Amino acid sequence: MADSRVALDFTRIRNEIHNETQLALLEDFVQTINTQGAVVIKNVGLDDDTIQQAFSWTRLLFDLDGSTKEGCQHPAEPLPHRGYSAIGQERSGGNAFNYKESFDFGPAHDNLYPNIWPQQTPHSNFCPSEFRAFMERLFLNLHDVQLTILKALEEYLVVKGRLCAMHNLMQNEIRLLHYPSVPNAVLSNPKKAVRFGEHTDFGTITILLQNQPGGLQFQNYAGEWHEINSSPTDLVILFGDTLQRWTNDRLWAGKHRVVSPIARQDELETGERYSIAYFCKPNRDQSVGSLPEFMAHGDSTRYEDLTAEEYNQRQMRNLYG
Ligand SMILES: [Fe+2]
Repeated sequence: MADSRVALDFTRIRNEIHNETQLALLEDFVQTINTQGAVVIKNVGLDDDTIQQAFSWTRLLFDLDGSTKEGCQHPAEPLPHRGYSAIGQERSGGNAFNYKESFDFGPAHDNLYPNIWPQQTPHSNFCPSEFRAFMERLFLNLHDVQLTILKALEEYLVVKGRLCAMHNLMQNEIRLLHYPSVPNAVLSNPKKAVRFGEHTDFGTITILLQNQPGGLQFQNYAGEWHEINSSPTDLVILFGDTLQRWTNDRLWAGKHRVVSPIARQDELETGERYSIAYFCKPNRDQSVGSLPEFMAHGDSTRYEDLTAEEYNQRQMRNLYG
């Protein structure tokens, strides 16, 4: 099994076609996520320059003054899940205060949930139209990565074309995240305050970028928490609830959280952190119940039929409700 701390070179999986080596690599990829909660990969088609620019724009966005960020505020209700959420607005992991701010957006032409972009303000070098253009390109770049990973999973599950077809409307989302510096004493009781409380993601897979290692923890199959570190140009891949449901638990949605980095817990303060998460989600009218072709032979159905949109709404109410 791959060491979840060392980036797995995805070109090896892509270059091997339908042979035993590819199957072994795919097994390694899937079982690392199943047992460790996530895997770190590299060379999957997203260039380093794009990643660096994505973090630069993310930093510029969160550096904007409060009133500009309030101008593109996420609604108080759970949906549409678009725009800027201030520190403490979202409640992941129960009722603990969340020390994070975030910005969510989806496909460029989404009639149900239109994006909420920041507007130009006087005396600012931030250019909202350039920000929007970059982020819309990033959405497409990460969609290409999504297709590469979904095709690999189709090989593993022997369901050629099936996963990509269930995502052809591109109803995915990106979340930009900023965790401000915070005194470690504030984070000492996770029931009261966290950076991001424990949760699983709702969609199919999540592609995560983090600007520095430390603090991102996953629960392994034995229930123990461990850090998954990656360089800023590596991608952390995890499975979401939808994939676990479709496969009737053959694939596992790893619980994760963001806390003070282990290496910094003796210090007075945890420094700021940025991350970018791409949530691959199925078409909204697609069922997220167990799918017979993804299940182990002879297994009985564990997850009821409901649409991806119904499931999403149910989970979102827990975060913003
Ligand atoms: Fe998450």
